[in-house]
Amino acid sequence: MSKTALITGVTGQDGSYLAELLLEKGYDVHGMVRRSSTEKRERIDHLMDNPNFHLHYGDLADSMSLVKLIGTVRPDEIYNLAAQSHVQVSFDVPEYTADVVATGVLRVLEAVRVCGLEKTCRIYQASTSELFGKVEEVPQRETTPFHPYSPYAVAKQYGFWIVKEYREAYNMFCCSGILFNHESERRGETFVTRKISLAAARIAQGKQDKLYLGNLSSLRDWGYARDYVECMWLILQHDTPEDFVIATGEQHSVREFCEYAFREAGIELEFKGEGMDEVGIDKATGKVVIEVSPEFYRPTDVVNLWGDPTKAKTELGWNPTKTSFEELVKLMVRHDMKLVEKEN
Ligand code: NAP
Ligand code: GDD
Repeated sequence: MSKTALITGVTGQDGSYLAELLLEKGYDVHGMVRRSSTEKRERIDHLMDNPNFHLHYGDLADSMSLVKLIGTVRPDEIYNLAAQSHVQVSFDVPEYTADVVATGVLRVLEAVRVCGLEKTCRIYQASTSELFGKVEEVPQRETTPFHPYSPYAVAKQYGFWIVKEYREAYNMFCCSGILFNHESERRGETFVTRKISLAAARIAQGKQDKLYLGNLSSLRDWGYARDYVECMWLILQHDTPEDFVIATGEQHSVREFCEYAFREAGIELEFKGEGMDEVGIDKATGKVVIEVSPEFYRPTDVVNLWGDPTKAKTELGWNPTKTSFEELVKLMVRHDMKLVEKEN
C-alpha cells in the first residue's frame, strides 16, 4: 500500500521539491493551496499531470478547511510547510504572521485530533534557525537556547513548543526540523540569495545597473533546498519523534555570496568603504554595482547563524554537504543567467 502525504505550502520552494521527492517514492501526494487572483503555480506546474498529485483549497488561518481536508485525505504524514515566511515582512504584518505561523500550527494539530488520526498520522513542522535569533551559542545545535528576534521567529517559537507539547501530552508523532537557510533556483525573489543571483545575471547582461542590499556582514549557513527536503522525510521515518537541526555546518556572509555569484556571472567584485557607505565595484570597469540601502535593514536582525548538523548526520544518516556552497551559488546563477536572457 502506498502512503498518503499532505503538504501545506506545496506551492512554495520547499513544498515543490518535497512533492517531487514523495512522488518519486511512490506516495499519493495531496497539496493544500490558497485561492488567489492569479493561479500562478509555476513551481508545481510540471507535477499537474501526475495522477498521484492532487490539490485542494485550504488555509492555515481557517480551521474548518483544515478539518475538512485532513478528514477527507486521511494522510499518513503531514508536512506543515505553509507560512508567511519572510522575516522582514513579519515586521509589517506581525498579527497576520502570528495567526498563520503560530496559531496555524495549532490548527493543524487539532484538526488531526478532531479527525481521530492522532495515533496514525505523523506530522512534520517546518521550524527554523531563526529561533536561535540573537544567538547565545555558536555554532547552534538542538540544545542551544532560543532567542527569537523578529515577529516571524517569535511565532515560529510557538509552533515549535506546541508541537513538543502535543507530542508529550497526546503521544503524537509530531516533530520539528530546525532548518537553517536553504536556497535554490526556486527561491523567492526577495530573499537575499535569489535577489543577488538574479541581479548578478541582469547586471552581467546589461539589464540592471545596480543592486541595493541591507546588511552585507550578516552571516548565514546556506544549504540547497533539494537536499533539505530529504531530511524532512527522514525525520518522519525515524523510529522516535524527535527534533533535528538541519544545516551544512559552514558559514558565509552576504558579501561573500555576492562575490561568488558575481564571479559566476563573469564580474570580479571589490568591496570598499564601511557600513552604509560600503560599495561593491566591478574591478574591470570601476563601476559601482552594489550599494547599501537602509530600506533593507530590519529593526532587529539575526546576524550569526551557523548550524551543527551532527545529530542529523549520525541519527538520520543525512549528508549535510551533498551540495557545496560553491555549487549552490553556481546552480542559482547559471539558472538565472538563462532566465534573464529571455527577459526583454
Ligand atoms: P515559501 O517559498 O515562502 O512558501 C511558503 C508557502 O506557504 C507557499 O506555498 C504559500 O502559498 C504558503 N502559505 C502562506 N500562507 C499561507 C496560508 N495562510 N495558508 C496556506 N498556505 C500558506 O517558503 P519556503 O522557503 O518553501 O519555506 C517552507 C517552510 O519552511 C516555511 O514554513 C518557512 O517558514 C520554513 N523555513 C524555511 C527556510 C528556508 O530557508 N527556506 C528555513 C527554515 C524554515 P502561496 O504560494 O499561495 O503564497
Ligand atoms: N531579504 C534580504 N534582502 N535580506 C538581506 C538584504 C536584502 O536586500 N540585504 C542583506 N540581507 C540580510 C538580512 O538582513 C538577513 O540577515 C540575511 O541577509 C538573510 O535574509 P533573507 O534571505 O531574507 O533570509 P532570512 O535569514 O531572514 O530568513 C530565511 O531563512 C530563515 C531560516 O534562518 C527565510 O527563509 C525564513 O523563512 C527562514 O526561517
